[in-house]
Amino acid sequence: MTDRGLFISFEGTEGSGKSTQMRLLIERLRNTGHRVTENQEPGGTRIGTEIRRILLDPVNAQMASTTELLLMFASRAQAAEEVVLPALSRGDIVLTDRWTDSTLAYQGEARGLGFDRVLATQRLAIGDLLPHLTLCLEVNVEAGLSRARERNRKLSTGTSEGRMDAQSLEFHMRVQQGYRKIAASEPDRFRIIDGSGEPNEVAERIWQTVAPLLRHVSRAAS
Ligand code: TMP
Repeated sequence: MTDRGLFISFEGTEGSGKSTQMRLLIERLRNTGHRVTENQEPGGTRIGTEIRRILLDPVNAQMASTTELLLMFASRAQAAEEVVLPALSRGDIVLTDRWTDSTLAYQGEARGLGFDRVLATQRLAIGDLLPHLTLCLEVNVEAGLSRARERNRKLSTGTSEGRMDAQSLEFHMRVQQGYRKIAASEPDRFRIIDGSGEPNEVAERIWQTVAPLLRHVSRAAS
């Protein structure tokens, strides 16, 4: 892990509002003079985007859990090398929409592969490149899932991203369980944020958590 920069990830179950909140935080950080680099998992790079399409296309319903695990880390290894590490060494704040905690919760817990197998794969793919802070938005799982499914139906313009949304409610409840387990074992890094209420209220909760870390990063102007 590099000493420079600040690495923050957003996590949450489907429809938790994390992508909206990440956009709001990026705006606020840039308005206060910080250099921000963004990433998304799976995705983030050209190669990662191709991997994302394979992972989320409902046509691949038969994908084995281990294939899914390895593809998640294949995208992340590319993002680590191409996006995250260079940005951190420039001293940027890097915000990523999902990182390894998603793999612990979705593949480790919900698919049943176990945390140990996910962590072993992580070491191979990205070493110890973990966020300094993780913001996990917690909402009602069922309501979030309906929102995400509705959004996918509306967005269906050729490439569908519904393979994970199509999993059962029980699967997504297990994802939430996975996140809670991580929060219990790493309370300093992994913060569960109440995702209910208006977006600006949630954004304020996030800002209260992020602001204390900002004194350690330099601003674009300095
Ligand atoms: P999202 O970008 O809309 O959040 O969608 C990504 C989907 O992929 C979401 O259902 C969570 C899932 N996912 C995993 O199962 N494991 C992972 O490691 C990551 C990054 C995402």
